[in-house]
Amino acid sequence: MASLTVRKLDEALKASLRLRAARAGRSVEDEVRMILREAAETEAPAKALPGPARNTPAQLHRTRTHSATELPRVTLIIGGGIAAYKALDLIRRLKERGIHVRCVMTRAAQQFVTPLTAGALADERCYTDLFDAQSEFDAGHIRLARDTDLIIVAPATADLMAKMAQGQADDLATAILLATNRPVLVAPAMNPLMWANAATKRNVAQLARDGVSFIGPNSGEMAEANEAGVGRMSEPTEIAVAAEAMLRPPQTGPLAGKKILITAGPTHEPIDPVRYIANRSSGKQGFAIAASAAETGAEVTLISGPVDLDDPAGVRVIRVESARDMLAQVERALPVDIAIFAAAVADWRVANAGAQKIKKTAGGMPQLALVENPDILATISKLKQNRPQLVIGFAAETQNLIENATSKLKRKGCDWIVANDVSPASGVMGGDRNTVHVLTLDKSDIAVDSWPVMTKEEVADALVAKIAETIA
Ligand SMILES: Cc1cc2nc3c(=O)[nH]c(=O)nc-3n(C[C@H](O)[C@H](O)[C@H](O)COP(=O)(O)O)c2cc1C
Repeated sequence: MASLTVRKLDEALKASLRLRAARAGRSVEDEVRMILREAAETEAPAKALPGPARNTPAQLHRTRTHSATELPRVTLIIGGGIAAYKALDLIRRLKERGIHVRCVMTRAAQQFVTPLTAGALADERCYTDLFDAQSEFDAGHIRLARDTDLIIVAPATADLMAKMAQGQADDLATAILLATNRPVLVAPAMNPLMWANAATKRNVAQLARDGVSFIGPNSGEMAEANEAGVGRMSEPTEIAVAAEAMLRPPQTGPLAGKKILITAGPTHEPIDPVRYIANRSSGKQGFAIAASAAETGAEVTLISGPVDLDDPAGVRVIRVESARDMLAQVERALPVDIAIFAAAVADWRVANAGAQKIKKTAGGMPQLALVENPDILATISKLKQNRPQLVIGFAAETQNLIENATSKLKRKGCDWIVANDVSPASGVMGGDRNTVHVLTLDKSDIAVDSWPVMTKEEVADALVAKIAETIA
């Protein structure tokens, strides 16, 4: 039998073999063996793969590996935080969207989840070591940094972000991040105090200036007992949707290249851990606008209060509870070109929300003092820096619709108001149809465009078309 030495092959062939091997997570020698076996099986299929044996796991695996090379590719860097277990679900969420995933783990990440699990879920070996003789004989860290369409860091620890901001490269994950010229999406996860720390804030700001994209963190319960606040990693589905949007080829619709921020749904303002003040908003109109805007090629972020609706395709969705959470996420999403505030944000919250469930007592009814919530529409409309080019508010009124909407347009400092009658007889709250009037401010003139009754999807399409006409 003739022997074959890979090192003696010509350079172009060696380069292509290395690429194939890296994509399949095999050594170059194993890749050559695989190619030879495939060639032999193709030559003599009846013998090598008789009858039903064509569908052996090995055969299926080869087919999958081969087609995987044509899929969009993500390198998922898993950092050493408790949320590392969610990265395993993220692998599945990415794969179900037809994205090929290759995992890299920091040393600390391996304290939380194993490379074996990540590798098995990704269908490719998980990389962990910068000084890995097998993958470094041809500068594997540079190859791993480039042979991908997107890098996701999830969970991104405070430590990883600090190293990224400083340009450190003392392990495989940071070396890849420093050597890459591909887009990077970071999903931070940490204790709220670590997230609020001035050093972390500086690092996040630096990374944003360097062109790194962020998703989350969300607010909510922490893994540590009795800890809550901003610091939870975004849910795997949210990260997968954001990744999908970043991997999508450049859009060509009328709002291609525009960033649109939309709020939707009600807010929940806690009275105590089990009770809250809410309203009847279903979020349907805001979600329909987000879906319609995404279809026109815009990059859409939807910040929604608690609703029972699925994420619209191609939209980055951030779910929040209270008005204050919503404002925080809106501010984090800036700068954008267009902001549409369709959420029914509670005007007030309970000043003295109980840390424990308020009990019935013989002493009588509890007194709930209300304080005003932040006014998201007015806050963003009046920004000196980063004010979106077009700010649109919604006015849900039960009487004197146009009069109240006109006064809201002047008071809030926004550009347009979409006014709708939400009195119970209209059936708008929770319903599928809407009758709206669009008030637009041109210098000091206000024009009122009254539309006929339409489905919420039709209202969304008409509004997005009007925006596209105005912005173009
Ligand atoms: C139980 C435990 C949980 C941790 N969770 C987090 C976390 O959620 N976020 C974080 O930034 N650091 C967390 N850390 C600290 C990191 O593991 C530590 O900073 C480590 O050096 C990060 O390494 P890496 O950035 O290379 O993955 C945790 C540590 C321990 C022991």
